[in-house]
Amino acid sequence: MEGGGEKGQLDRLLAVSRLFTKKIKNWREDMILHPKLNGKLVVITLASILLFFINNNIQAHEWMAPKEAAMEKNPVKMDPDSIQLGQKSFSENCAYCHGDNAEGNKSKSIGHETNPQNLKETIKSHSDGDFFWKIQNGKGEMPSFKDELNANEIWSIINYLKSLSN
Ligand code: HEC
Repeated sequence: MEGGGEKGQLDRLLAVSRLFTKKIKNWREDMILHPKLNGKLVVITLASILLFFINNNIQAHEWMAPKEAAMEKNPVKMDPDSIQLGQKSFSENCAYCHGDNAEGNKSKSIGHETNPQNLKETIKSHSDGDFFWKIQNGKGEMPSFKDELNANEIWSIINYLKSLSN
């Protein structure tokens, strides 16, 4: 589902511009009918457009790896050795936050604001490259593993996660 988020964003943007055009049209009609309401209508219209944009931005805000990184192919074969290495590395480095079976964890129980995702689920809709980049770089309460894990280990963790969701 690479690029799915971007398409969603584009759709939302188109929806906003359609709404915007409609608002302007309504506003012009209202101006002709009720000249005294002009000032109020301008304020209300602008405020609602602004709110729509803010709301839209929050919804569209999903953590995404850069497109090129997300397209990177997993060079490590998903064989039993790799899955075993991934499982070991996962329980040592990730289970603390993401849960023993990668089924997510309650952020409150580990004193965090952000809920570590159920990776068993989210791996299904993200590419290997997307996960690789996120694990290397981290974000907020998700630590960066660039210096802790080599590429082979990270790809193997991804193989392990994929084996869980099969
Ligand atoms: C200290 C807690 C913590 C540890 C340890 C941790 N993570 Fe995370 N992880 C998080 C949090 C919190 C997020 C959500 C970040 C956000 O969206 O802002 C996250 C997000 C992710 C995501 C993005 C999921 C998605 O659906 O986009 C991946 C992939 C991930 N972690 C993999 C790992 C792996 C693999 C390890 C071990 C090598 C690991 N994490 C270790 C807390 C942690």
